[in-house]
Order: sequence, then structure tokens, then C-alpha cells
Amino acid sequence: MAMRGLLRLGEVALRVLDMKAALEHYDKRMGLQVTLTDDSGRVYFKAWDEHDHHCLVLREADAPGIDYFAFKVSDDAVLDEMALKLRDRGYAVKHIEAGVHPRSGRRIEFTLPSGHAMQLYAHKDQIGNHLPLRNPGVLPDEGVIRGFRINRIDHLLLGGPRIDESAQLFRELFGFDLSERLIDADSEASLALFLSCSTKPHDVAFVLQPEPGRFHHVSFLLESTYDVIHAADMIGKYRIPVDVGPNRHGVTRGATIYFFDPSGNRNEVFSGGYVHYPDTPTLTWDTSELGKATFSQDNTPRESFLTVLT
Ligand SMILES: [Fe+2]
Repeated sequence: MAMRGLLRLGEVALRVLDMKAALEHYDKRMGLQVTLTDDSGRVYFKAWDEHDHHCLVLREADAPGIDYFAFKVSDDAVLDEMALKLRDRGYAVKHIEAGVHPRSGRRIEFTLPSGHAMQLYAHKDQIGNHLPLRNPGVLPDEGVIRGFRINRIDHLLLGGPRIDESAQLFRELFGFDLSERLIDADSEASLALFLSCSTKPHDVAFVLQPEPGRFHHVSFLLESTYDVIHAADMIGKYRIPVDVGPNRHGVTRGATIYFFDPSGNRNEVFSGGYVHYPDTPTLTWDTSELGKATFSQDNTPRESFLTVLT
């Protein structure tokens, strides 16, 4: 696939109540690597198989939730192109100089109809994935892959109002496909929308919530379904609060487990899912099969999964 424009989810910035507890969770248990702690106390993490300097930023604050998320784009010209198109549609676009976000090039930032701050950037320092670029082999040195054995960041789910408008922006301006949607069986109103800019079943998703700017989860990819069980074993061993134990989503077909960081932000690790192509038809689920859509091994929707956001 010749990819230009928005490439992938590159960065999620979360608020945590206690950085020491957050480090225990994200570094020691999940096994993400700390790549930087900046002067303001923000901590930056990457997964082992990512080349870019960081994919997760944590900031200590009084309330958990999301500050912003950022997609990496193919080149700087895309930033100018998108800034113009966003302005044409009436969005206020903020320009952020290179270096304001550590190890990053310039960015643009705007607020989605769902109330979330979104950024685009083309450059971030690449520090490698622990394998050489020539004759890389398949495994980094022992000790690099640890904790939940996370390969990379994958997607996020955001809660807010006006999700149809947010999805329209992603489809019309950013070139995403609507891979799946969950609608009310009676009214046909959108309840959750899943959007892909790649061959993944989704890169970002929105769930309808009355309050803007809410965070449902950030998700990280594991190598295999057995790694989901391994993560579940660690979650049990270290008594990490579980939202939903190992199961398989109907939507996306990923094998999944959901759990919470010490501040109550939901995390997911998963593996699998089908391949999405630009001509793959949009799949529709409705609330008559809410259990099958969410957790297809027992066809049972979880109240907490539908209602707890930060
Ligand atoms: Fe997910």
C-alpha cells in the first residue's frame, strides 16, 4: 500500500494521579521503556518494536484522562495541507513549533467535534527498535522484551458527543475508512464508530458519550493470543484491576484483555483481528447483539466497559 497522509497513531498523552505508581504500572508491569523524563516531570515511553522516540506521554495531574492524541503523517507538506483544509471547515488550528514536544518536529493541533485535542506531526526522532537496520534478525537482546511483551501502540477509543461529525472529518479530510459501526437497533443512531487509515480494523474509534473529551482506552499490540493469556497471568499476579478478562471482540475480532492503570485510565492489550483493505465493506452491529459485538466468547456486554471513562 502506498501510504501518504495520516500514517498511524503515534502518541497518546494521559494524565495520572501519581507518577510513581504509574511508572510501576507502565514500565515494570506492562514493560514499556522509559525514554525521557522532561523538566516538567512528564515521562515518555516506547514499546520495544517501535522506532520512534515515544508513543505514550504521562503527566501528573489532579484528574486522570487524556490531554491529546497525535497521528504521525507522511511528510511536512501534509501538515500545511491539513491545516488549510481544517481552516476551510471552520476549525481553529494551532501551530506548535518544533521542539516544544521533545524530540519532535512541528505540529498542528485542533479540537474534534467530540471534544478531543488532536495533533498531527511528521517528524519524531527515531531511536531504533533494539535491532540493527542491516541484517536485523528477529529478537533483541534478552531483557528488552519484558512485562506484557508489548510490540507497539495500536489504537485508542475516545468518548464524546457528535461522533458522526468526528467520523466524517476522519473520512472526508483524513481519508479514513469506516470499518465498523455500532448503531441503536431502533433509531439506527451511531453509538460507536471504528475508523481505519491502514490495514488494521481500526486506528481510532469513537463511542457516544454526553460529556466531551472523555477517554475510554489506549490499546497496545501483542505478538500472539497466548501473549494475551500471559498478560492476564501477570495482571492476576500483580493484582492489577481488571475490567474484562481475556475474550474476543466481535468488532475487529481481536483477542483482548482490559485493565486499569493505578489512576483509573483503561488500557487494553490484544492480538489478532482481520485485515482491512480500502474496499472492505463497512460492517454494522446493532444493540440487539451488543454482547456479541463487544465480547463474542460469552456474548455478554459489560456495564463497566460501557460506562467507565476517564
Ligand atoms: Fe481497543
